[in-house]
Amino acid sequence: MQGKTLLISGGTRGIGKAIVYAFAKEGANVAFTYNSNADVAKEIAKDVEAQYGVTCRAYPLNILQPEEYKDVFKLFDADFDRCDFFISNAIISGRAVVGGFGPFMRLKPKGLNNIWTATVDAFVVGAQEAAKRMEPNGGGSIISMSSTGNLVYTPNYAGHGSNKAAVEAMVRYAAAELGGMGIRVNAVSGGPIDTDALRAFPNYEEVKAEVIARSPLSRMGEAEDLTGACLFLCSKAASWVTGQTIVVDGGTTFQ
Ligand SMILES: NC(=O)c1ccc[n+]([C@@H]2O[C@H](COP(=O)([O-])OP(=O)(O)OC[C@H]3O[C@@H](n4cnc5c(N)ncnc54)[C@H](OP(=O)(O)O)[C@@H]3O)[C@@H](O)[C@H]2O)c1
Repeated sequence: MQGKTLLISGGTRGIGKAIVYAFAKEGANVAFTYNSNADVAKEIAKDVEAQYGVTCRAYPLNILQPEEYKDVFKLFDADFDRCDFFISNAIISGRAVVGGFGPFMRLKPKGLNNIWTATVDAFVVGAQEAAKRMEPNGGGSIISMSSTGNLVYTPNYAGHGSNKAAVEAMVRYAAAELGGMGIRVNAVSGGPIDTDALRAFPNYEEVKAEVIARSPLSRMGEAEDLTGACLFLCSKAASWVTGQTIVVDGGTTFQ
């Protein structure tokens, strides 16, 4: 991965942070975005540079305003001369998902639309900007993070689950149209992973116990469990893999 550059949204916590470190460890330069945690982002960038000797930069982004990606990529262009990998990872929580996160009878268009904006629109605008920069280098790899909550019933998750299904469909469309530029587009769909996003579930303890009971591996997923699939999709080993969703779920989806 030396000499290659990744841009990933939401690198301050959870899965995004684990991916930042995993790519830097392999020698890639990394740019990531933050939303509320500017200080944490600065610390991570400093730590990654010190540990791995790569260039690491952090930029502000609100995925509820996907057009902000254009400003992110302007900052990126000033710091990096190539973009090889783009991962749409950031996810909204808290007030923005009210009406989108909850039982079916309490769903409301505003919350659902926010999740669409943050999941599907943000992927589209970010991937478009990334693709413009990948094309001159002969291609690259684009990934959307997804979740198995679009395959198996997960209480309160209808808003996110339906939008993850939508973004996986968008990934296939993007793959069909960007292949000519040498760009591969895939999704990585995780089972429940122990991060802030999951801890925000009102029934977190119940979900955790259920995951441990369902997984043949008898444990929850950790953020680092999703990094291998992302590294694979950005490597030469995945050179004919496009338009796919790789499920990394500790075996929980089948049981
Ligand atoms: N946790 C799971 O069980 C699980 C399973 C499968 C897939 N996934 C997927 O993996 C991805 C990461 O999830 P996670 O669990 O790691 O999430 P997380 O721990 O809640 O982290 C969320 C990240 O998104 C950023 N963010 C929050 N609101 C934002 C906004 N309005 N605009 C831009 N960035 C924003 C945060 O930045 P700040 O810290 O700066 O606010 C943070 O870096 C998501 O796409 C999620 O759906 C999660």
